[in-house]
Amino acid sequence: QSGYITLDSGFKNTGATKSAITFLDGEKGILKYRGYSIEDLAEKASFLEVAYLLIYGELPTKAQVENFQNQINKHTLVHEDMKKFFDGFPSKSHPMGQLSSLVCSLSAFYPESLNPNQSKEEQELTIIKLLAKMTTIVSWIYKKSLGHPVNYPQNRLDYVTNFMSMTFSYTTEEYEVDPVVIDAMNKLLILHADHEQNCSTSTVRIVGSSDCNLYASISAGISALWGPLHGGANQAVIEMLEKIKEDGGDVEKWVAKAKDKNDPFRLMGFGHRVYKNFDPRAKIIKKACDDVLAKMGINDPVLDIAKKLEAVALNDPYFVERKLYPNVDFYSGILYRAFGFPTEMFTVLFALGRLPGWIAQWKEMKENREPIGRPRQIYVGEKDREYIPLENR
Ligand code: SDX
Repeated sequence: QSGYITLDSGFKNTGATKSAITFLDGEKGILKYRGYSIEDLAEKASFLEVAYLLIYGELPTKAQVENFQNQINKHTLVHEDMKKFFDGFPSKSHPMGQLSSLVCSLSAFYPESLNPNQSKEEQELTIIKLLAKMTTIVSWIYKKSLGHPVNYPQNRLDYVTNFMSMTFSYTTEEYEVDPVVIDAMNKLLILHADHEQNCSTSTVRIVGSSDCNLYASISAGISALWGPLHGGANQAVIEMLEKIKEDGGDVEKWVAKAKDKNDPFRLMGFGHRVYKNFDPRAKIIKKACDDVLAKMGINDPVLDIAKKLEAVALNDPYFVERKLYPNVDFYSGILYRAFGFPTEMFTVLFALGRLPGWIAQWKEMKENREPIGRPRQIYVGEKDREYIPLENR
């Protein structure tokens, strides 16, 4: 401590705000959105219902969710001028870099988004446009990575089906809607939808606290999520599991590497700042892996390696002492892969799921008129020094 400043690097013991959106109990492994358990929501709700719940605070009636879908449908097209710089990205540039840039650029097309004192209607329109265009932008990024033509939204489809259709259909053949896949995709997006004051959400809040517009605030959150210690972990997990598979599946060797302090390697998808027990989302996704892959008739050797890795780590004192358990990223990539997504798209899918949560948190921060975020520091640099003219240095 120095004077009245308490140093808390990583904000491990700092409550940044009061929030009514998501409740998280790391000891008991409990996660609730607006008081509803994620087990219930993942099982019974659609992703669009949960997006509505997070942003407006209540589960929508049938009429409300239909109106929400209709509002979104009016705005799923992206301004054609966005293509000018979208086409400028090299086809293999990382999807998260493209997504962050494209989302930020939306403010250039929709000036009403820039007004720091938006009317309720202006804010509502800004939110609806972002939810609507995110699916189109994400599907465009995927098509570009293949060098394929982009698809346009089909408003007769629901939010998630429209996204999957834009992503996987071709001018040559329609996307074959598989209810098992659509249901699992809704579940995955719901499980990623919010997670209280994690790194990317805190970023969205602090950028928004300067009265910055929603699009630029969300763009900053996408950048924070990109990091392999955060949302980027879902891509890193599959790359790690593939490496272990190529290395003969010797999970004990890799668990030993993860424990070796001289080795920078960490078990990706393991550990969590808050969950000191099983991440409840990981439990649901692990079960969905078994159910969905069986229904799809897929036998993915990487899933077996993941389960073996989990079993070895959960019986290893190093991990048990540190309360390191699989987190949301440990199994999610196995499902994304089964749906046909390449690993570099996984974190963008995390962002698609987290979008309603980020929006809800930004909106709450505005409604609560939170002050601009500006933490202090403990200075440990040089004391007073005299300036030495250049010729004397
Ligand atoms: C997400 O915050 C959120 O809610 C995030 C998220 C969300 O929904 O928004 O849940 C999504 O980001 C999940 C986390 C995805 N990241 C990974 O899977 C990357 C691997 N995990 C770690 O890097 C780590 O566990 C973090 C980043 C998740 C948490 O880091 P902390 O809380 O700062 O913990 P730490 O790094 O201080 O680790 C504590 C100890 C250390 O050992 P000691 O110094 O005490 O000896 O545990 C060790 C660490 O070395 N450790 C690991 C480890 N994670 C922590 N050792 C090996 N493998 C790991 N994965």
